[in-house]
Amino acid sequence: MSTIIVNCGEIAHLSVGDISEPISGYEMLDKKSLVFPKGNAILIKNGNISSIDQNDVILDEFIPWYDEGDKTKNGYNIIDARGKAIIPGLVDSHNHLVWSGDRSNELSLRQAGKSYSDIANLGGGIKKTVKSTRDSNFSDLLSKANDRLDIAVMNGTTTLEAKSGYGLCNETEDLILRVNYNLSKNSNCNIFSTWLGAHDFPDDKSRSQYLEELIDIQLPNVSENKLAKWVDVFCEPGWFTVEETEIIVKASQEAGLKSRLHVDEFVDSGGLALASELGSVSGDHVAFSNDESRDLATKSGTMQTFLPGTPYILGKEINLPIQKCIDESWNFSVATDFNPNYPSLSMPFIGSLLSHRLHIDPLVSLIASTRNPATTIFEQDEMRGSLSIGSPADLNIIHSSYVDGWCQTPGINPISKTMINGVIVNSNKSI
Ligand code: NIG
Ligand code: FE
Repeated sequence: MSTIIVNCGEIAHLSVGDISEPISGYEMLDKKSLVFPKGNAILIKNGNISSIDQNDVILDEFIPWYDEGDKTKNGYNIIDARGKAIIPGLVDSHNHLVWSGDRSNELSLRQAGKSYSDIANLGGGIKKTVKSTRDSNFSDLLSKANDRLDIAVMNGTTTLEAKSGYGLCNETEDLILRVNYNLSKNSNCNIFSTWLGAHDFPDDKSRSQYLEELIDIQLPNVSENKLAKWVDVFCEPGWFTVEETEIIVKASQEAGLKSRLHVDEFVDSGGLALASELGSVSGDHVAFSNDESRDLATKSGTMQTFLPGTPYILGKEINLPIQKCIDESWNFSVATDFNPNYPSLSMPFIGSLLSHRLHIDPLVSLIASTRNPATTIFEQDEMRGSLSIGSPADLNIIHSSYVDGWCQTPGINPISKTMINGVIVNSNKSI
């Protein structure tokens, strides 16, 4: 069975140059090269994009008998886009998907003047979620994660990086990574797992005991059982130092794990520079990184992944140098950072923060949410993130006829239908 999406509005194919490389600089604004105008159709065979051509040309060649609407006939599954725009499937490259508990009480503490670190020191923050996650079990965590994944996919996410990090002991880190593994086998969304045992220090061990456990117990368990593709460390004063991060990443590299790191969220502690020197695929948060490190990151192939949802929810100014990244041709992506402190799974909302608060063109926000993060996740021969001929058909039909409409309805889902590997997995109402 082949699928044809007919009567498309604009199509953000984002398919220029080598699709296993990110797009940067003013090329991100080159709409003529990145977006097809309305009036095309997409032919999908065996789950892959086989052709994108004028509507009439595809109709004449494959389905000359077609009149209108959605139809399944003569071996073709036809989807009528009714003039709506098409964008690639969204790639959420930083997501703490699996945890249990509720931290909604922390907003009033913040409003009373407590900082993220103050709340952590009072027993809230990561440690509070660790307690509730340890008290949970496999089936509860799996069922919650499945619900969250459904919501993410409903909001257009077709690939998601899922971290552990709310166990902080071998048993619960292992449990979370096994939930991720189960999701990666059973969900239609593309799921990839990251081991974040170094998210914080647990209360029941000394600092040196926990560092030893990470290297001698958790890491061998993760690598022997192939539970994660990457290691992550929360490298930030108050959590893991640059020196500790380096030890954990180097040991993980020897065990076959690449790295993607939490760096420079609250201060510039040299985290992005370290990520670049260590060859991490991505340095995430990077709110306070210096310009030299940003330049070094791009030269080293380390993506800067901005997480604007975090300053948003902490009530801070969203002061991220994204326009400067465009001006300087520094590579960057964005992601949700879904976690108990920022429990939102919507990539379109992140696009809205960029476009409505930082005045970034919606096409740039889209590239930072699709093709660019995909390059940190997929190997070259299985690349996704753009609508290229031969690529798996991961895409969204959005409610607007313009691709720019993908991030302009905060609080309302802009996604009409989501397709993963050529199969429609959901369908949502329009405003
Ligand atoms: O990326 N900063 C570290 N980790 C998460 C937040 C974790 C939490 O507050 O539970 C983040 O923002
Ligand atoms: Fe995070």
